[in-house]
Amino acid sequence: MARIRMNCSMTAAFLIIQTIFLLLLYSKQNAVLPNAEGKEGKVHILILSSWRSGSSFVGQLFSQHPDVFYLMEPAWHVWVSMFQNSARVLHMAVRDLIRSVFHCDMSVFDAYMQKERNVSHLFQWAVSRALCSSPVCDLYEHDGISNEMACKTLCGKQPFAKVEEACNTYSHVVVKEVRLFDVQVLYPLLTDPSLNLKIIHLVRDPRAVVKSREQSVKALARDNGIVLNTNGTKVDDGKYEVMREICRSHVQIYETASFKAPTFLKERYMLVRYEDVVRNPLIEIKEMYKFAKLKLTSKLQSWIYNITHGRGPGHKKEAFRTTSRDAVNVSQAWRTSLTFQKVKKIQDVCKGAMGMLGYQLVDTEAEQKDLSHDVVLPRRQYHFSWSSSEEPN
Ligand SMILES: *[C@@H]1O[C@H](CO)[C@@H](O)[C@H](O)[C@H]1NC(C)=O
Ligand SMILES: *[C@@H]1O[C@H](CO)[C@@H](O)[C@H](O)[C@H]1NC(C)=O
Ligand SMILES: *[C@@H]1O[C@H](CO)[C@@H](O)[C@H](O)[C@H]1NC(C)=O
Ligand SMILES: *[C@@H]1O[C@H](CO)[C@@H](O)[C@H](O)[C@H]1NC(C)=O
Repeated sequence: MARIRMNCSMTAAFLIIQTIFLLLLYSKQNAVLPNAEGKEGKVHILILSSWRSGSSFVGQLFSQHPDVFYLMEPAWHVWVSMFQNSARVLHMAVRDLIRSVFHCDMSVFDAYMQKERNVSHLFQWAVSRALCSSPVCDLYEHDGISNEMACKTLCGKQPFAKVEEACNTYSHVVVKEVRLFDVQVLYPLLTDPSLNLKIIHLVRDPRAVVKSREQSVKALARDNGIVLNTNGTKVDDGKYEVMREICRSHVQIYETASFKAPTFLKERYMLVRYEDVVRNPLIEIKEMYKFAKLKLTSKLQSWIYNITHGRGPGHKKEAFRTTSRDAVNVSQAWRTSLTFQKVKKIQDVCKGAMGMLGYQLVDTEAEQKDLSHDVVLPRRQYHFSWSSSEEPN
């Protein structure tokens, strides 16, 4: 009897020791890989959008998350290097680059950058919180909120190899891209068993996009040339032919993913309208995080509250600089500042996309200027169907 009792207590002691050991091991592992999601593996998110559609802001919502390695528009390097080609021809190089980035294989940039390079050679690197914190740079903690300007002055000279090293330590790799016009180009990535790709398709009212594009005509001229296939000639898009292409691509992507989706795409696509993010930031952000399998930390929640209520450093190029209500106003600015002639022209080239995405056409100038008449149909009424099981009622 005594022996059995002793065995029992020994077993219990052994179990306790083992448990403590496992707990220690587990916490140590977590310390080494603070962001690893565990056996589930990595999550890869592509924010698929277009120029001037609020994608920098949405990108920040991911970039600032402690579990996320974020790059903004890495395919910029492809387009700059091969500017005499069309967007369609460049699709494959863009896809290959995105695939490599998702795998944290940064050797893909060998094709587009000089051999002697550092972190600052990467397009818009300083908007990535991951490139402003360890192991790249010690300016911010992983759960800190990074600032682009501060990072730019202090972290750019780090060796380029650190980009890959950093990428490997995160559970989520998020890429924002505006240089893809066809979702089928991404099918090989969606079926790649070594990737867990999800697509957030971010759209915005084309009339607001045009209003915003008018403020950066020069910066968009080279990209316009590629979209319109002009063999390297810069184009000022006075006739909205670029908008026609952009709207056509939104229709292609949304239609394919919603009505003709192959099984591998069905649960991996989410449509987000920028106007909904502006009007209900927290609701929309929570849904995007849920889709991406990211937790909303209390710090992030506080930061989001701050930037949508005019506190702290917002995102300087975005409408969120002041209050959320102002942002709603800013998103309506096209209604007072664009001429009705222009609005009609945009509606003409984007009619299909607008009907599909819930942006109502205005028929008269009076209707355009009457702000009490909301032209953005409520999302629920509009019935988006990205994932039937998760659709809010
Ligand atoms: C690294 O970047 C800095 C500027 O950010 C530059 O002065 C320096 O020459 C770069 N080093 C290399 C090896 O390219
Ligand atoms: C494109 O431009 C280059 C030089 O600017 C020229 O050599 C080439 O012939 C052009 N190609 C076409 C198809 O026009
Ligand atoms: C939000 O703003 C408050 C008040 O200015 C500040 O104390 C807090 O640290 C901010 N939160 C974040 C995460 O920046
Ligand atoms: C929105 O804009 C209108 C007209 O410019 C202005 O009267 C109103 O006060 C603004 N609302 C907010 C919340 O700023």
